[in-house]
Amino acid sequence: MHKTVSEKTNRLTGLLKIPGDKSVSHRALLLGSVAMGTTNIHGLLESEDVLNTAKALQQLGTNIRRSDNGVWTVTGTESFNQPDSVIDMGNSGTGVRLLMGLLSAYPIRVELTGDPSLRSRPMKRITDPLSETGAVFETTDGKLPITMQGSLNEKDFGYVMPVASAQLKSALLLAGLRKKQKTTVFEPVPCRDHTERMLKAFAADINVKKRADQGNEITLYGGKRLKACDVFVPADISSAAFIIVAALITPQSDITVTDVGLNPLRTGILDVLLEMGADIRYENERELCGEPVADIHVRSSVLRGTEVSAQKAPSMIDEYPILAVAAAFAKGRTVLNGLSELKVKESDRFSAIIEGLKKNGVDCRQIGEDAIKIQGSGKKPCGGGLIEAKLDHRIAMSFMVMGMASENPVLIDDVSSVATSFPDFISLMNKAGANIHDYCD
Ligand code: S3P
Repeated sequence: MHKTVSEKTNRLTGLLKIPGDKSVSHRALLLGSVAMGTTNIHGLLESEDVLNTAKALQQLGTNIRRSDNGVWTVTGTESFNQPDSVIDMGNSGTGVRLLMGLLSAYPIRVELTGDPSLRSRPMKRITDPLSETGAVFETTDGKLPITMQGSLNEKDFGYVMPVASAQLKSALLLAGLRKKQKTTVFEPVPCRDHTERMLKAFAADINVKKRADQGNEITLYGGKRLKACDVFVPADISSAAFIIVAALITPQSDITVTDVGLNPLRTGILDVLLEMGADIRYENERELCGEPVADIHVRSSVLRGTEVSAQKAPSMIDEYPILAVAAAFAKGRTVLNGLSELKVKESDRFSAIIEGLKKNGVDCRQIGEDAIKIQGSGKKPCGGGLIEAKLDHRIAMSFMVMGMASENPVLIDDVSSVATSFPDFISLMNKAGANIHDYCD
């Protein structure tokens, strides 16, 4: 394993095309695999996480191919085959949780596992409600590896979500697809709704009712085959966020990221950066496959600290590490509230943010149970820290961005995890003006 160093960048410029949305890509493969007909996916994210989902579906007997023009075709199947080996989902929480949901209605026995990061993440939030629908899960400690056996139990199923998790919501909806029953999910706090939008595009019988308390009641009437359709995957806002913050904190930068998905339940990071004084403009706004999309034009900006409420968390859950880097370059205090879910991501991001910023000379500390305070001086942080990425792509990318504008270079012990969501991150950033390379002691 070699270290990577991110050194000072003079300016970032250019028109950047970045890879497709990870959430949308997983869902397109999963829905395509059970739909009637052939689904063509344009712009699928070809990263380790998504390719693991494709491979898992192939192990289950689905015909998935990539054609020379980069379009992926998925031929839907009525029933999956029992796989003859363990399905390894690598680093992907979304992949494994959504797959468990989908498979819970098929009477086959499947053994699922993942890398050390995924094997340390909680799965009971998914397996407990899915057990109520008749599926059986064998696990030693509520984590992977898990052996599951689905069932076609056809009782109506209702569930109130105890945590704002799109992975949980999606797993339950996918579980209800094959059964002639009604699945009702109540979400007190709305979280990303790509599954609901895509199910509509695949002609599912799904209805989303807004409740007076701001929550949603989602009802799916199952037992009807989905209809294959063409999916166009927008660029991933969660990947764009690294480039946007890099451009904001690097002097004289001017970049545009094209075709970025702006699902309103994903854009919390942009609202907060705008509040902090960021020069961000949306251009060429349009709709792609039921999802709002725009080009995002960003120029270097003087940022000021802000307070982010806990209610904002579901709309920017993956963006806290990079927002924390932006806050380290801002003038004044930033407080990020309601971060308990960060403790169960690809790594414990709550601790990783605090430790990583401190190592780079930033005044940062935990407040209460689940909030972080970052005191920005308005000057460049000193940098110079060595970050342990702990198989977490977003921690690795956030601190590479930090190195681009700090006084001293920032070192990352292992950036291999970046391949799970944004394989070309380093070359794309270097083309735009960054200076990220292997480190030789
Ligand atoms: C995702 C949902 C989020 C997010 C993850 C992708 C999805 O997780 O952190 O990267 O595609 O549904 P939770 O829903 O568990 O918060």
